[in-house]
Amino acid sequence: MGKLSNQVKVAIEKALTERIEALKEIVAGPELIKGFDPTLPGRRLPAGHLHPITLILNEVCGVFEKMGFSIAQGPEIELDFYNFEALNIPPDHPARDMQDTFYVDDKVLLRTHTSPIQVRTMEKMSPPLRIIAPGKVYRCDSDVTHTPMFHQVEGLMVDKNVSFSHLKGILTYFAQEIFDQDTAVRFRPSFFPFTEPSAEIDIQCVMCRGKGCRVCSQTGWLEVLGAGLVHPAVFRHVDIDPDVYSGFAFGLGIERIAMLRYGINDIRLFYDNDLRFLKQF
Ligand code: PHE
Repeated sequence: MGKLSNQVKVAIEKALTERIEALKEIVAGPELIKGFDPTLPGRRLPAGHLHPITLILNEVCGVFEKMGFSIAQGPEIELDFYNFEALNIPPDHPARDMQDTFYVDDKVLLRTHTSPIQVRTMEKMSPPLRIIAPGKVYRCDSDVTHTPMFHQVEGLMVDKNVSFSHLKGILTYFAQEIFDQDTAVRFRPSFFPFTEPSAEIDIQCVMCRGKGCRVCSQTGWLEVLGAGLVHPAVFRHVDIDPDVYSGFAFGLGIERIAMLRYGINDIRLFYDNDLRFLKQF
């Protein structure tokens, strides 16, 4: 064994010395290998990073997670029942026209919003509930402010004595965390079949600070959210007693928020996969 290990040692030492000598020769005479300078530092491999939509999605979820909301998920290929019917939108209800739906067949579709996750969550868990549901949604629509696939974050809080003031407080805090600490927020009466009362929430225009510009169509305000108190009919679908529990829900569009945060005027840039665009984030 001793003899063998000595032979191995000598062989390794010999190989090392030969290699060192060979390398010294190259360093001493770069002309030997034309154009190759072994003293140059290596080339850094290009590293990727998260997509701007993912960055904003993570940030938005982070704001709500800090307030005790946990993440819920649901399928993108959804039943008509969860996307519409359980949300108090019966067949032939005109509210279905508000959303241009991709149908798979009579009963199956690509979800048009993240609201079906409200129903799926309340079926599985009982109140008190505090969840947000980020995800992809689909509508047959395409122009500078619409893509057929986009992202929403749904929020749902159900407990005894949840009121509109909780909704106002939480969404105002959210807007000020994502935009500026002094961003003004406005609640406008609106309509959704699954909330009552319903509101659309505007933030003060981040471009002109409320003075009026092209981005806010001279109004000084930008619409960023839909929200309201959970409709009793939705509670009844999931066997929650609306006389005991109340809740609020909201839905916000991530692309919209990303466009405002980064000052982007064409939503399609997010999905062109142009590295010159993506590398800026
Ligand atoms: N789902 C609605 C939409 O996509 C938004 C919304 C969610 C409104 C929750 C009220 C409550 O337009």
